[in-house]
Amino acid sequence: MTLAPRADFPLLERHPSLHYLDSAATAQKPRVVLDAIRAFYEEANANPRRGAYALSFEATQRYWSARETIARFLGAADPECLVFVRGTTEAMNLVAATAGREGISAGDNVVVTALEHHASFVTWQRATIEANAQFRIAELRPDLTLDVEHFASLLDARTKVVAVTHVSNALGLVSPVAELVALVRRRAPRAMIVLDGAQSAPHLPVQFDALGVDFYAFSGHKLGGPMGIGGLLGRKALLETMPPYQTGGDMIESVGDQVSTWNTVPFKFEAGTPNAADAVGLAAACEYLTGLGMARVRAHEVALLRALVPALTAIEGVTVHGPTDDAAFAMRSGAVSFELAEAHPHDLATILDQAGVAIRAGHHCCQPLMRRLGVSATARASVFVYSGEADVAALAGAVRHARAVFAGD
Ligand code: ALA
Repeated sequence: MTLAPRADFPLLERHPSLHYLDSAATAQKPRVVLDAIRAFYEEANANPRRGAYALSFEATQRYWSARETIARFLGAADPECLVFVRGTTEAMNLVAATAGREGISAGDNVVVTALEHHASFVTWQRATIEANAQFRIAELRPDLTLDVEHFASLLDARTKVVAVTHVSNALGLVSPVAELVALVRRRAPRAMIVLDGAQSAPHLPVQFDALGVDFYAFSGHKLGGPMGIGGLLGRKALLETMPPYQTGGDMIESVGDQVSTWNTVPFKFEAGTPNAADAVGLAAACEYLTGLGMARVRAHEVALLRALVPALTAIEGVTVHGPTDDAAFAMRSGAVSFELAEAHPHDLATILDQAGVAIRAGHHCCQPLMRRLGVSATARASVFVYSGEADVAALAGAVRHARAVFAGD
C-alpha cells in the first residue's frame, strides 16, 4: 500500500508501471501543487509588495500566506523567521556569506561531519579557507553512524559554525540532533548551528522552534513542491543582526547617495522579484503533507524501509551501507544506499531502469563520504508517500535479475 494515492500525482498516473525510487533527488508533485501554481498565475499574477492596486495586494497576500503555511509546517511560530531562497544550497550559501563571513576569523574553526552534502561541506570548506580558519570533520563509526565522541572532541571556544545534516542524503541516517546541539551549546558557546534539512523536511515531523539550532535549510522540490524554491529558517535575533545576502529591490529601507539601510527580516534577504508562484506551490505541498499527517508519513516510510532493506540484503552480493539491525530503523529515513558486488552502480541503475525501476547511482554529492566508504559511487533507492510494497518488490526483483546478469548465470 502507498500512503498517498498514485492518482494524486499526474506523472505517476501517466507512467503507471514506473517504480520511482529516487525521491531523495526530487519528489514527484501532487496535482494540488501544480494547480496552486497555475491558479497564482491565472488569478493573482502581479509583482508582490510592489503595486498599489488590488491585483498586487492579492499577489502579496498569497505570497505571505504561503510563508505562514510553510513556517507552520516546519514548526516555526514566527513566519518572519522564514527566508525564501532557491533551496538548501542557496540557504547554506546565504548563511556562509553573511553570518559566516562576519563571524569566522583567522584561527577560528568550523565543524562539519563526513556525512555532509557538498552544498554544506564545500560551502563551509570555502568559508574557512577564505577566513584562514580550520575546517574540522567529524568522522563516522565503523557502522557509518556519526562518531559523537569525535564530534564532541572537535568543539571548542573557537568553534564559530557547526554544520550538520539532519538526515544523510546518501545513507538515509538520521543524526542525533538533540545530543549534538547539547554538546555544541556546552563546549562551543560561540558557535552557530546550521542544520541541513533537505532530507528531513519531506520525511520527519520537524519542529524548528524546538530543535535548538540557529538555522534550518530546506528545499521545496524534495517535499513535493516545485524546483527553485526553498527556505532558510533562522533565529529571528540572528537574522536581524546579519548583513544582507544580495542587494537589489525590496531589501532596502532607504537608499542614499552614499549609503543605504536595510529592510526588516525576512525582506532584507529577499532581493528582487520573489518566486511567489513557487512559494504558493510549496505551501500547497506542505498542506498536502499535513493532510496526510507527518507522523503517518514517517511511519509509512519506516514500514517500507523495514521491507526494503531485508529484501536487498537477502540477495547474494548485495551490501546495504549503514546499520541494518532492528534498532537501525529508528534512525533510518527515506534513502538506502547499497552495492551489488561486481556491478558498477551506474550499470546497475541502467539495468534497473529497463525494469521500470528508477534509482540514483553516483556519489550523491557526498565525495568525502564515498572516500570513507572506499567507493566512488553507490546505488541509492529512496521512498516517499507514493511509494509502496510494489515498488520494493520491483526493486528486489530487478536487483536479483541484475545479479544474474553480472554473475553470467
Ligand atoms: N541532493 C540530491 C540527492 O541527494 C540531488 O539526490
